[in-house]
Amino acid sequence: MRVKRIKAAGIIFCISILFLCDCGIQSPSSVDKIHIGVAYYNQSDTFLNELVDCFKEQINELKDDGSSVTMTLRAASGSQRTQDDQVKELIDAGCNVLCVNLVDRTDPSEIIDLARENNVPVIFFNREPVTEDMMQWENLYYVGADAKQSGVMQGELATEAIHANHWIDRNKDGKIQYVVLEGEPGHQDTIIRTENAVDTLKNNGIELEKLSCGIANWNRAQAQNRMVQIINQYQNKIELVLANNDDMALGALDAYKKLNFTETDFPVFFGIDGTNAGLEAVLDKKLSGTVYNDKEGQAAAMAKLAVEVVSKDGTKTDALDNDKYIYLPYSKVTTDNVNNFLNEPDASSD
Ligand code: BGC
Ligand code: CA
Repeated sequence: MRVKRIKAAGIIFCISILFLCDCGIQSPSSVDKIHIGVAYYNQSDTFLNELVDCFKEQINELKDDGSSVTMTLRAASGSQRTQDDQVKELIDAGCNVLCVNLVDRTDPSEIIDLARENNVPVIFFNREPVTEDMMQWENLYYVGADAKQSGVMQGELATEAIHANHWIDRNKDGKIQYVVLEGEPGHQDTIIRTENAVDTLKNNGIELEKLSCGIANWNRAQAQNRMVQIINQYQNKIELVLANNDDMALGALDAYKKLNFTETDFPVFFGIDGTNAGLEAVLDKKLSGTVYNDKEGQAAAMAKLAVEVVSKDGTKTDALDNDKYIYLPYSKVTTDNVNNFLNEPDASSD
């Protein structure tokens, strides 16, 4: 009996020791368990879907390296109200860092309040909140790209093409008749890309005549519809289409095909992003050029930052501007170098 009691006490003692040890081991690593909640504005956005795919790859690599990372993804169908609810659910479900692609980049207050109350850092991406909102709390970050650079590069690509191919000025009046297709009106990339592409062409001595400008909200089908109207008005007078993204450049091309124009009456088209479809179209010489929006780089920067803000050792990447911002550079893409981008190596493998 006595022996049994001693044995039982011994077992309890061992279990307690094990339990204590286990707690001791678990506490630092539990801090490093990363539950990332990703919320993005619309599941039908081509670039965002490709960027989110890159982010998933990054997460899988972290898992392969032995990190404890989970990710939950929500898309908001273009409604800020829906996104606010989704962010609340993600926090309630235990996410300890959020990556948020706002629906309305001027309306992040509810998300910021929720995150601050629950002490969950937020990495905004692609749709940049205004500076005052970014200053609301120290644990707010932004990962994206410099809109101005993409506009300048698109203008440079168009300039180079016009200089090298005199046929682009089809009516030989010394001016380039052009149309702009724009993304969503309030988006940081819309106004800045348009302005800088046009200014760059002018600064390079290209004489321009603006025929029309259409808003197509980054969307290929909307761009096609808008472009059909514009073509009906201007027929074969359009020599250049500057689109704020590849999907809209491809939508403009779709419009010419739908209206059965012969290729000799097509303008030249320039996009931005280097989506899979955009790069294929550059390879096939359907688009004259695009500007690569480095989704691999952005996804890698977001994943790295997410890990850093959750681990409490306080080290942060040197890449942060003003302790908050990471802007990845764009690159120009033409038929000459498109293969480098089509075979884009996984950003995290270097
Ligand atoms: C991309 C667009 C995309 C938009 C969404 C832009 O940076 O170029 O293709 O639709 O972001 O926010
Ligand atoms: Ca002309």
